[in-house]
Amino acid sequence: MGFAVLALLAASLVAGCGPLRRFAYAGPGRDGWQQPDRVVASLGLEPGARVADLGAGGGYFTWRLADAVGPEGQVFAVDVDVEMLAHLAEQSREQGDANVETVLGEYDDPLIPEGGVDWIFTCNTYHHIEQRTAYFSNARRYLRPGGRVAIVEFNGQGWFERWFVHYVPADEIRAEMRAAGYVELASHDYLDRQSFLVFGLAD
Ligand SMILES: C[S@@+](CC[C@H](N)C(=O)[O-])C[C@H]1O[C@@H](n2cnc3c(N)ncnc32)[C@H](O)[C@@H]1O
Repeated sequence: MGFAVLALLAASLVAGCGPLRRFAYAGPGRDGWQQPDRVVASLGLEPGARVADLGAGGGYFTWRLADAVGPEGQVFAVDVDVEMLAHLAEQSREQGDANVETVLGEYDDPLIPEGGVDWIFTCNTYHHIEQRTAYFSNARRYLRPGGRVAIVEFNGQGWFERWFVHYVPADEIRAEMRAAGYVELASHDYLDRQSFLVFGLAD
């Protein structure tokens, strides 16, 4: 891909062009390195589960999570970007996905609706969150008993995320989540460009 295209994508991420941002999030060839079906399968979601897709963006994982939990389940597509959420809501209506609900979160609080969730899933969003320990400490109240947090995050192996510092090393995530009151339950190592960690509540 030419430098001009990459520069355009980078600028769109910063400047706020919705369609280009969605294209950049999906990225050319993402399905290959992202292995989305394997990621969702690794969660072992029960039909009927309630899941928050934190930082849902263009919905790359939202629809796959919705398929996994089925019509009895519920996926809350949480984001702070109104334009992205409007696009998701429209797509959800068009596709007839009654089990997807968009949620406008705040930068320091996902505002997950009453009833909570069995899973908070977040992909390529962890590095966007400020005060992460406080954020996930607060997020504990949205987890139902036995609830889990799955974090898929760039690990700095790809030049793009390293160049734009769009990543948090896995050990930093571990330390922050421990401080927020979680224990590590699983670490999947099949993604080249990302860590994939699963946490549960420490108490
Ligand atoms: C790089 S995109 C990832 C989108 C999607 N998860 C994916 O894997 O394609 C990051 C998303 O996180 C959102 N975001 C940033 N800070 C956030 C916060 N504090 N709470 C919720 N979403 C946030 C952005 O608006 C953006 O849509």
